[in-house]
Amino acid sequence: MTATTNPNKALWEKGDFTRIADQMRSSGEALVAKLGVTEGLRVLDLGCGDGTTAVPEAQLGAEVLGVDIAANLVAAGNARAEQLGLTNLHFQEGDATDLSELDDESFDLVVSIFGAMFAPKPFDVAAEMVRVTKPGGRIVMGNWIPNDPTLVAQILKISAAYAPPPPEGFISPMTWGIEDEVSERFEAAGVPNDQIAFERDTFTFEAPVPPSEFVGLFRDYYGPTMNAFDAARADGRDAELQAELEDLFDEKNESDEGTRIPATFLRVTVTR
Ligand SMILES: C[S@@+](CC[C@H](N)C(=O)[O-])C[C@H]1O[C@@H](n2cnc3c(N)ncnc32)[C@H](O)[C@@H]1O
Repeated sequence: MTATTNPNKALWEKGDFTRIADQMRSSGEALVAKLGVTEGLRVLDLGCGDGTTAVPEAQLGAEVLGVDIAANLVAAGNARAEQLGLTNLHFQEGDATDLSELDDESFDLVVSIFGAMFAPKPFDVAAEMVRVTKPGGRIVMGNWIPNDPTLVAQILKISAAYAPPPPEGFISPMTWGIEDEVSERFEAAGVPNDQIAFERDTFTFEAPVPPSEFVGLFRDYYGPTMNAFDAARADGRDAELQAELEDLFDEKNESDEGTRIPATFLRVTVTR
């Protein structure tokens, strides 16, 4: 019998997102500092990767559970927690579309920074995030914005142009960056519209290497870009894709010595 492959899981286990996340740590900390995390707060970090935001949440004293679909990132997160001596931080595998292993109304704060947006079935994802949040608790999402001129939307746009067309019925993760779509999903999960707030925020990628080397990290370790390079290579167009991404990273870079590239995202706050 062949095991069924979950393409969503396969995409994120294909690379090694820790190599990208290493360049996101200071923005992760800065973002968490704005979330009102206090000692003993029960936090679910969903699509947590290896803990860019889960680690600072735990360092502020919260009781943090990180849930991610990728087994390699869960293992990397648990290794970081152990190395940092954070006994209040634990990572486990799970799928944002079905969190049935988690009880109703069990978290004060559900955080998902560029995480749950990558799960399929966005209405199920919104319903699950609402279900596990305590009444009076909050959900905070960070979502990339479609057609935004800053880095990540442009990487995904360029990559998509080289990748095969998505399967029929595929809902782009980038729709989580459209306010009306986000409202519709949370309203369908029973949240009144006036409990859903939007803000633009900035996440900065910082690496001690030039932009061309930073492109290499995405090419070799970031699932969506790896897939685009696989498709481009099959068409003999990988050098073209590399050049397009290098131009993008050069244009957006604000550092003379290495790479520092800010990227705008939509911060969604839902109060239950
Ligand atoms: C761009 S990374 C962000 C990781 C982390 N939040 C950070 O900021 O470093 C996207 C993460 O979402 C996870 N993910 C994708 N689909 C998921 C799903 N259906 N359920 C849970 N996690 C998912 C991926 O495995 C990956 O760790």
